Amino acid sequence: MPEPKRVYNFNAGPAALPMEVLQQARAEMLDYNGTGMSVMEISHRSKEFESLIQTAEADLRDLLDIPANYKVLFLQGGATLQFAMLPMNLRATGSADYIVNGTWGKIALKEAQKLGTARAAADTEAGGFKDLPAKLELDPKAAYLHFTSNETIHGLEYFVEPTPSAGIPLVCDASSDFISRPVDVSKYALIYAGAQKNAGPAGTVVVIARDDMLERTPANLPVMLDYKALAASGSLHNTPPCWAIYITGLVFMWAKGLGGLEAVARRNRAKADLVYKAIDESGGFYRGHAKPEARSVMNIPFRLPSEELEETFASESKKNDLIGLKGHRSVGGIRASLYNALDVKAAEALTGFMREFQRKHG
Ligand SMILES: Cc1ncc(COP(=O)(O)O)c(C=O)c1O
Repeated sequence: MPEPKRVYNFNAGPAALPMEVLQQARAEMLDYNGTGMSVMEISHRSKEFESLIQTAEADLRDLLDIPANYKVLFLQGGATLQFAMLPMNLRATGSADYIVNGTWGKIALKEAQKLGTARAAADTEAGGFKDLPAKLELDPKAAYLHFTSNETIHGLEYFVEPTPSAGIPLVCDASSDFISRPVDVSKYALIYAGAQKNAGPAGTVVVIARDDMLERTPANLPVMLDYKALAASGSLHNTPPCWAIYITGLVFMWAKGLGGLEAVARRNRAKADLVYKAIDESGGFYRGHAKPEARSVMNIPFRLPSEELEETFASESKKNDLIGLKGHRSVGGIRASLYNALDVKAAEALTGFMREFQRKHG
């Protein structure tokens, strides 16, 4: 088989997967672990699949150093279903607090409000979602405080968790910076993340929930929305997204092979530094969206002097095999997503292109 063409993939999600993972999946496609079948063809009740999902969980526990009193779930419905499951399970009564500093936090709050009471503890939309909130107005009785550790569209990232009121559980949508760096899981009551950015393909969402959070689940929830029941079945109540869990497990293994999350974080920081340097040294030709203190290591949205130039940048970069750089449709501009799977060469290729583009069009 000839080697396939590969490009630099800056897509925001679904996004680049590590080459080694793709190669392993290709090698195992027709015969997974001596079964004579692909992972897509074996029973989720088979010993092979049980071992696969248990290994994926163990590797994630290793990577994030997840304490024993937390469950790990592999669910479906993406992070968007978590916007609903979370309040259904954790806020039987009362109100929940949400930090809104980007589109995803705003959507999460809206979903929670459809099902009960939820309020914004901060909302930075009036300022254009360029910064993390300077202060929070917390409800001391909130069922939980929810935040988005990385706002994928606006490119803002929390490197230090917001502090909830004493005793209030902290809940995080970590979809776009999951396993990009170490975090202290014990600070969180629950973390959820769609896999399709750093951790795998679309199709599974990882939920890490402290045991006492599972005790909050009300008795009458449909089983597929019930954290407690899903945890009790080891994410195998019904047929899970077997392929997505398989690839996600390979990505966890790959990240461990890189040296764990400290090493992953160093590599991510090096890539982001290159791109922010190219922005900062452009004399205003490139303008980053986020305030420097809040800049995301994962997603870097920026503008050019005109929309016309942005169109040209997007199309010329594509011709140079730099893919997925068009900004989110809601905000326009350019966005470079630099998830785990990209190596430093990708950032070098992008910044080389940015400098050349400015020389031609600046
Ligand atoms: C931070 C964040 N939360 C939630 C979502 C929604 O994820 P999903 O498409 O898996 O429902 C996204 C998607 O890009 C995201 O970036």
